[in-house]
Amino acid sequence: MKRAKFIALIAGFGFFFLALALQGIVPYLLPENRELKVARTVRTPLGELAEIKAEAAAYPEEQLRGRRVFIREGCWYCHSQYLRPTAGESRRWGPVSEFGEYAHDLPHLLGTRRIGPDLIRVGGKYGDDWHTAHFLDPRMVVPDSVMPRLDWLLAKDAATGKQTLNAEGRAVTAFVQGLGMGKGKWRDAFPYQLAESGSSSLESVAAIAHGRAVYLRRCIGCHGEKGDGQGTAPTTVLFAVALPRDFTAGVYKFRTTPSGSVPLDADLYRTITAGIRGTAMPPWFNLAEDQRWDLVHYLKTFSKDFKEYPPEPPIQIGRPPKPSAEMIAQGKKVFVEMKCWECHGPEGRGDGPASQTQEDDFGHKIPPANFTRGIFKSGPQARDIFRTFMTGLSGTPMPSFGDSFASPEDGWALTYFVLSLSADGKP
Ligand code: HEC
Ligand code: HEC
Ligand code: HEC
Repeated sequence: MKRAKFIALIAGFGFFFLALALQGIVPYLLPENRELKVARTVRTPLGELAEIKAEAAAYPEEQLRGRRVFIREGCWYCHSQYLRPTAGESRRWGPVSEFGEYAHDLPHLLGTRRIGPDLIRVGGKYGDDWHTAHFLDPRMVVPDSVMPRLDWLLAKDAATGKQTLNAEGRAVTAFVQGLGMGKGKWRDAFPYQLAESGSSSLESVAAIAHGRAVYLRRCIGCHGEKGDGQGTAPTTVLFAVALPRDFTAGVYKFRTTPSGSVPLDADLYRTITAGIRGTAMPPWFNLAEDQRWDLVHYLKTFSKDFKEYPPEPPIQIGRPPKPSAEMIAQGKKVFVEMKCWECHGPEGRGDGPASQTQEDDFGHKIPPANFTRGIFKSGPQARDIFRTFMTGLSGTPMPSFGDSFASPEDGWALTYFVLSLSADGKP
């Protein structure tokens, strides 16, 4: 008996020291690890050694302040920042987290609790207007949310009396908008958000009733119960970029149909799926396909135009040709000839001579798009840009140029020129 105890004791200590040696001491003695320790470097996904920057150097000033607010408010208590390659996480939130992405985060905020969604890829998913409303009262834009109100991140705007972000609110929004952006513009190619329409559900009484149920749950905070754009969010929060659409007007910006026509069902479906970048209008690719189609059927009941003036045939977009430096140069010529610069400015910064005076049909000031930001409301693909100027954006001063092109090649040339303005010089 004594002997057995003695052996167990020796084995216990033996294994303890063996583990200590293998997992602690030997790795410490290996030269490559000592080098890592001394130089404070990490191995990047490409296998290179990169120096760990101080947190302050890795984040722009405002985002760094936002990160501190994020930590102080305990956002990380409900929101993890790590995407696993399991259970459709990459379908819901975006590409799986990669080795090296967190190198500069001290302390890291990976988190394990998911009372709310993972946030590591949330940058660019919503516009700042959405975040403003969501911080003031999450239930305004997501009715069954359990996220707490964070109204101390807002203050009253003196001119309008509506709520807008204060300095801390802007900082934490900048931090949230930067999350996951180190991976580049992955969202521009995110298949679920780009999905062109499949086949429509049948437009029936039942489908419209179902669409109405989905609408009442997801959309009334902004578009209002009557579809008139007078939801609680835009009436209490300052929507700086764009106001939610009044659907009773039957005026839609993003269409494949010519100027003056109502959109096709497929156009509405595309807008609902992808959202409207940079504005409060979120992408809804996580809703089931039949919910999105039934929403389309319900939205159409708000305006008689859909029944009285059926949509005209869509324009032909076709397949974009391969971009080249010559095409971009040709596109620049077209840009000058067609006077796009009058509104959009000679360098596409949205600061042309006519830019200050543009108003939309609802009487609100509307700045011409600044192409250098690379945020396109209707989508980032070549065919989205092409569609925009071929059909125009109804209800806004952005005209339709569908009849103005000598050849479709000029249209594609103009498209690539517009895209090149935000491409850091890379065609
Ligand atoms: C008590 C838990 C909790 C806390 C604390 C919390 N959230 Fe949330 N958050 C949620 C829940 C639940 C959702 C999902 C419902 C919704 O969108 O409101 C959410 C959603 C979000 C979303 C949208 C994510 C998406 O992909 O749709 C963002 C962004 C967000 N929160 C940011 C923050 C920030 C920033 C803070 C801190 C200032 C914070 N949250 C604090 C629970 C929380
Ligand atoms: C947080 C606010 C918000 C919510 C919630 C919201 N929207 Fe919007 N929506 C907007 C804003 C803002 C615009 C106008 C953007 C613009 O004109 O640039 C818009 C515009 C639209 C448009 C017009 C597109 C066009 O071609 O002109 C459609 C369609 C639309 N929303 C559908 C929906 C549906 C369906 C839902 C619910 C599933 C919804 N929205 C929920 C803010 C919201
Ligand atoms: C009379 C002024 C005016 C002229 C001329 C004009 N635009 Fe615009 N354009 C606008 C306005 C205003 C918007 C913003 C609409 C919005 O935000 O809803 C816009 C938006 C756009 C967008 C962005 C769409 C998106 O998805 O965000 C593109 C691309 C565009 N214009 C291309 C052109 C091209 C190319 C020309 C010349 C062939 C041109 N525009 C001429 C006023 C103009």
